[in-house]
Amino acid sequence: MGKIIAITNNKGGVAKTTTTLNLGAGLAKQGHRVLLIDTDPQANLSSSFKLDDQSDNNLGNFLIKNKKWKDILVRFDLPEGKFIDIAPAARQMENVERVLFSENSREKILKRMLEKENIKSNYDFVLIDCGPNLGLLTCNALCASDEFLIPFQSEYFAQIGTAKILEFAFMFKDPDLNPDLELCGIVITQYNDNMRGKAIKEITQEVRTSGVADKVFRTYIRKNIKLMESPMYGQNIFDYAPDSNGAIDYGNLTQEFLERQRN
Ligand SMILES: Nc1ncnc2c1ncn2[C@@H]1O[C@H](COP(=O)(O)OP(=O)(O)OP(=O)(O)O)[C@@H](O)[C@H]1O
Ligand SMILES: [Mg+2]
Repeated sequence: MGKIIAITNNKGGVAKTTTTLNLGAGLAKQGHRVLLIDTDPQANLSSSFKLDDQSDNNLGNFLIKNKKWKDILVRFDLPEGKFIDIAPAARQMENVERVLFSENSREKILKRMLEKENIKSNYDFVLIDCGPNLGLLTCNALCASDEFLIPFQSEYFAQIGTAKILEFAFMFKDPDLNPDLELCGIVITQYNDNMRGKAIKEITQEVRTSGVADKVFRTYIRKNIKLMESPMYGQNIFDYAPDSNGAIDYGNLTQEFLERQRN
């Protein structure tokens, strides 16, 4: 049975999309069946696969029932029979929230539709990239998910501390919407080496007192220009720059993620 994980944070530019792309690629390269769902009308995840961000074959049209799942799904084959599937977003999805708003139990449309498509039987991991907001598409992502994963920029993380972060994290766990939603973890991203000492010290202090050490991934994603470049070439970090710090960090994150899934 597969697991659905929303990659979410209502703050913009914290590496939600970068993490969805590269954790997804890391898992697919290990032979897991991976589906990525782009719920963000900015369509950055879809663009990083060089998909047309104006296409009618997008998740929004699936949600409002103008398109079938098989029409919107795009498969990227990897060597040795491995693959990544993506349900892309498009710019015109800005309008979808307005249409969905008048539907019955509007926060659970994606959940119902994924169940109908038997998604959990067809994939090992489904990662849902969310936009930087708590709008209806993000709510749908959180309602459809088993877990949520929060990327955090290291500067901000160091500034506000673990306890506050967890308070923030559980904002996503609305009992009326999805009482079973679990926090998969918090990933510290865009890590600047100059900050390393300070941030680690502050985080370990907080963690010791708050007892949530297990929620913050040990792996830090360092700032690495290759992570910024790779989407422009329609590539994930492992194909674009396999020896880069970005590939090393997302490789380690993939391992740690899988270890946690086994426990
Ligand atoms: N570790 C990193 N090192 C350098 N640049 C990074 C790193 N992670 C992400 N970036 C860059 O930072 C910018 C924001 O990242 P990304 O688009 O993944 O964030 P996001 O949270 O999805 O943003 P949004 O909220 O707009 O959807 C992008 O240009 C991305 O390439
Ligand atoms: Mg994004």
